Amino acid sequence: MDKLRIVGGNRLGGEVRISGAKNSALPILASTLLSSGVMRIGNLPHLHDITTMLELLGCMGVEVAINEDMSVEIDCRNVHSQVAPYDLVRTMRASILVLGPLLARYGVAEVSLPGGCAIGSRPVDLHLRGMEAMGAHIDVVDGYIKARAPEGGLKGANIFLDTVTVTGTENILMAAVLAKGTTVIENAAREPEVVDLANCLIAMGAKIRGAGTDTLVVEGVEQLNGAEFRVLPDRIETGTYLVAAGVTGGCVKTKDTDPLLLEAVLHKLEEAGAVITTGDDWIKLDMEGRRPKAVNVRTAPHPAFPTDMQAQFVVLNAVAEGTGTVIETVFENRFMHAQELVRMGADIHVEGNTAVVTGKEGLTGAPVMATDLRASASLVLAALVATGSTDVNRIYHIDRGYECIEEKFQQLGANIRRVSGR
Ligand code: EPZ
Repeated sequence: MDKLRIVGGNRLGGEVRISGAKNSALPILASTLLSSGVMRIGNLPHLHDITTMLELLGCMGVEVAINEDMSVEIDCRNVHSQVAPYDLVRTMRASILVLGPLLARYGVAEVSLPGGCAIGSRPVDLHLRGMEAMGAHIDVVDGYIKARAPEGGLKGANIFLDTVTVTGTENILMAAVLAKGTTVIENAAREPEVVDLANCLIAMGAKIRGAGTDTLVVEGVEQLNGAEFRVLPDRIETGTYLVAAGVTGGCVKTKDTDPLLLEAVLHKLEEAGAVITTGDDWIKLDMEGRRPKAVNVRTAPHPAFPTDMQAQFVVLNAVAEGTGTVIETVFENRFMHAQELVRMGADIHVEGNTAVVTGKEGLTGAPVMATDLRASASLVLAALVATGSTDVNRIYHIDRGYECIEEKFQQLGANIRRVSGR
């Protein structure tokens, strides 16, 4: 298995282009199943998860063509299967996002139940309850979700989500756009990726109000047409590169991004002593050679501080002046990076959903192991600032969510290379 070998100590500097958002691209690709025309999606990141989703659509009969500008043309007019098989779903739990579109467009869906994952049990009960509220009949048999819409198709319903769920909101939204009548989704997720999906559906002819608020109102329509859409920038990739500048005392400008997508993160970085300047599509962080100051962080649904930036801020606190507390309220087991960072000399005490981090001048390189996408990114950040060499193993996690990570960090002056291991 490949690993990333990083020799720490370089102060990062320069510019880096931010890719399209994985967590927007995935629901948008799934939504193409709803279209009676041809979709053209731009700014897709070149990530393993995107390839998996395109593979999943392909095995249903969707025709995919890559254009010279790297946009993707998707034609769902000849779909012949409504099954999402286990061998694909087990590699990417976001495959569950085809459930709503298949039910809405074809009245039937068979999707392998996604298992748990390293960061938590991550059930999909709210997805299923939302579909049932719209009249779907759902059985879970042999590890598969077998769903069938009622005669005449899904019906609009009033749905209250007990927990804010990003893909749950997205799945139910996609089911509702072709349902008969009006659907109201309360306690909906407000993440920018949910708004991006809603905007794409609206471009296809859907009638949706309230995207970005906690209440979505959907008027079902007869059919959705083809459309062109460009995926929004990845706010988590943006935040990760900004924290890399923060922990190495450097100065990095992220381009093709949007500061409005990650305001909570930018406020925390300023609190840590970074000098942040922004434009419509760029963010520059200058640490002016200083160590960051420790900050307290509490993750929660958007617009609060994002859970996907939690691991990166544990690293920032690990090398900061002072002690910072990080509270994880979204997932039940999302501090696995802590033990790996302790092996690099970090002073971290995890108690339940709280990590107390006391900053140290520096960390020391060591072989470490990635467990999930964002934890692995945090290990790369730690290695960039550690003395000596670090091997980050199991980087297939990273390749799922960070496009060309070693090239982008090399461009910023990092001593990082991919080593193919056995
Ligand atoms: C999305 O996951 C993201 N993935 C995650 O990003 C992100 O961490 C998460 O939202 C939170 O922002 C994609 O968008 C593809 P949730 P999702 O449903 O939708 C509980 C990354 O690193 N819940 O918002 O799966 C759940 O257990 C990934 O890019 C239920 O109880 O997360 C969790 O505690 C990691 N029942 C909480 O809600 C349900 O039916 C929030 O999960 C659904 C969720």
